[in-house]
Amino acid sequence: MKVLVINGPNLNFLGIREPDIYGAQTYAQLISFIEKTCKQEEVEVECLQSNHEGAIVDAIQQAYFDHIDGIVINPAAYTHTSVAILDALKAVSIPAVEVHLSDIYEREAFRHISYPSLICKKSIYGKGFEGYREAIIFLKEYVTKNQDTY
Ligand code: DQA
Repeated sequence: MKVLVINGPNLNFLGIREPDIYGAQTYAQLISFIEKTCKQEEVEVECLQSNHEGAIVDAIQQAYFDHIDGIVINPAAYTHTSVAILDALKAVSIPAVEVHLSDIYEREAFRHISYPSLICKKSIYGKGFEGYREAIIFLKEYVTKNQDTY
């Protein structure tokens, strides 16, 4: 099974940006955490970070051709604005889980709207790096369960 992990704008600045909200660990540390988790769970993983909405849409579309089994996505600020990312997730029909490091529902009102939550199988927020682990394990179980029904 292969999972694509997509991180959106400004997440490459983890460790530098608002550490009181996002923590002191860097993006590189997040990637090692994800890779370690995937190794333990015997899941193949590809990670991508982009500050550009169109590049994220392209990556979601590419996942269809690459036969990706599940998508973990933290669209960052695009969570609250991007119909294009929502539509791309709908278009490819790949099970996706939305992750946010912070609890978006405990923050400013404009962060309470999440477009990807309309299609994602699960939304995880406020759990820091751990949220990505939970998302990977959820997708592994979800994909295994759905394969059994074929
Ligand atoms: C975020 C929350 C978003 O509101 C914000 O724009 C981000 C990161 C999070 O991981 O908590 O950039 O997605």
